[in-house]
Amino acid sequence: MSTSVAGLIDAYDPTLPLAEASTIPASWYVDPRIHALEKQTTFARTWQFAARADQVRAPGDYATCEIAGEPILVVRGEDGVLRGFFNVCRHHAAAVMTAEQGCAKNLRCPYHGWTYTLEGALKGTPGFLEECHFDRAGHGLVPVDVEEWEQWVFVRLERGGPSLAEYFGETVMAELRALRLDTLHWFERRHYIFDCNWKVFVDNYLDGGYHVPHLHKGLNSVLDFKRYTIENGPRHCLQSSPVVQGDDATFSAVRGGDRALYYWFHPNFMLNWYEGKLDTNIVRPLGVDRTEVIFDFWFADVSEAARGQNLASIAVGDVVQDEDMAICHSVQRGLRSRAYSTGRLSARREAGEHLFHRLLHADLSAGA
Ligand code: FES
Ligand SMILES: [Fe+2]
Repeated sequence: MSTSVAGLIDAYDPTLPLAEASTIPASWYVDPRIHALEKQTTFARTWQFAARADQVRAPGDYATCEIAGEPILVVRGEDGVLRGFFNVCRHHAAAVMTAEQGCAKNLRCPYHGWTYTLEGALKGTPGFLEECHFDRAGHGLVPVDVEEWEQWVFVRLERGGPSLAEYFGETVMAELRALRLDTLHWFERRHYIFDCNWKVFVDNYLDGGYHVPHLHKGLNSVLDFKRYTIENGPRHCLQSSPVVQGDDATFSAVRGGDRALYYWFHPNFMLNWYEGKLDTNIVRPLGVDRTEVIFDFWFADVSEAARGQNLASIAVGDVVQDEDMAICHSVQRGLRSRAYSTGRLSARREAGEHLFHRLLHADLSAGA
């Protein structure tokens, strides 16, 4: 007999202190019912990355994406206000905007030509003449919450709840402002597919550098593992390491400055910051054991002269991603083993994972 969803959730005790805590149960990484519940809770009720701010600066600029299986559209209106909508036509549900990004005068559905204003109101319904009781005003695109933060646009599918600043806290907002991310320029986007549950990727990210000396020899050569720090906020974790000049020339050439900062924001957004460089990670579940991680790379200098250096920096990141991909796949297979249920956490290293697991437990409990 299979355990109920409530039973699976209750199997995790969020009250245990880190020194006594274990991971969330293996079932949470493999059970489709947990995956479905995460879509309705964690992914619908938290702030989710939808676009880069540079994609939607001028009236008519729009960008589309998919969040937890939902087609989403953000668009700047004639009035200069940025809005977010479900990208689902109110006629027969086709996606209204099909390009990844662009600039439009209005939002026209390709299926039967229904047209919406940039503010989401239904304007044109070709061939509709004799329909009774058709409430045009009630057929606008369905809105989502939207906020701009630093260089990004975030949306929340289920409307209402704390603002982004309230959710993550003013302290980390100020920390990010101080980094002057507005001096960086977007360079390139890459997509990586991981054969694992999305939480395996997040866990791996949040293990406080525990795996770095073992798995990432190159990266380890430029970080000071002993002085690696881990600080939790209410809903984010900052891991930080001094940057040193190591013996791996490829890594040393592209990782300078004093410190590396690794920010995770619940549930699925990360910032990896080195002096003059940033990459953001958006972790998108594609299925219970398949995950896409979208990397946006930003640099202080994106001139033609700096192109080679920027590509070299991305290439070094690719080495790390390949190493992580292989281990994440290995972990996913192990999580399905009858030999494994939960594992203990390192008190020195794994405070970030502990926070992530407790927040997830709260999300799932609220929805179960
Ligand atoms: S589905 Fe959009 S016009 Fe018919
Ligand atoms: Fe890693």
